[in-house]
Amino acid sequence: MKFIVTAGPTREFLDPFRFISNPSSGKMGFALARAARERGGEVALISGPVGLDPPPGVELVPVTSARRMRDEVFRRLPGAGAVIMAAAVSDYRPARYSRKKLKKSGGRVSLDLVRNPDILGELGRKKGEVVLVGFSAETENIVDNAAEKLKSKNLDLIVGNDISAPGSGFAAETNRAVVIDRTGVVEEWPLLTKNELAERIIDRVLTIRAGRGRS
Ligand code: CTP
Repeated sequence: MKFIVTAGPTREFLDPFRFISNPSSGKMGFALARAARERGGEVALISGPVGLDPPPGVELVPVTSARRMRDEVFRRLPGAGAVIMAAAVSDYRPARYSRKKLKKSGGRVSLDLVRNPDILGELGRKKGEVVLVGFSAETENIVDNAAEKLKSKNLDLIVGNDISAPGSGFAAETNRAVVIDRTGVVEEWPLLTKNELAERIIDRVLTIRAGRGRS
């Protein structure tokens, strides 16, 4: 089965030297790519800038911006069995890009931002038979917010986590996840390493896929 996994942050440049981003380490997405490969999958790992080596046997597709990540995901969508969006995609980008380094001017400036494509939302509208998994990084109302995203983005599975909890979120080695499927079943998983969490998620993806009568 073909997997598309996204990982890491995106960078949204203002000028050649400055960007908007977030502290995503890419560890969760890389662990998912490894787990999918170990279960026999053919894996494309579309990742923003992170300092990690790709797992053996996985095709690494480095990207920078959300728009480039979107294009690489959709280019590979035909024939894919599952898409797992673990990337921390920037929701906004600067409205203007300056080819030259911006100079300072005055004591206070404001930055005009425009919306980036919602890759997961677009996948949900176009997904067909593909198993679609999203992540929900929250600091409050984790279950409600994750359930709302599962529904509004037409996902098969959502992995919610409290990015403010100790041992969870962006750069941590571990994660405590709440996992919700389309039938509305909510599971609270214990604190797991990102590799253990990845293995469980891939198991769930394969079970959902098998339930659709395909391998
Ligand atoms: N995501 C995406 N495209 C974006 C933003 C997010 O595909 N432009 C994906 C992420 O990879 C993740 C999921 O959407 O799988 C949830 O991202 P999150 O930022 O938590 O949720 P949003 O839908 O952006 O909502 P909000 O920021 O309002 O919580």
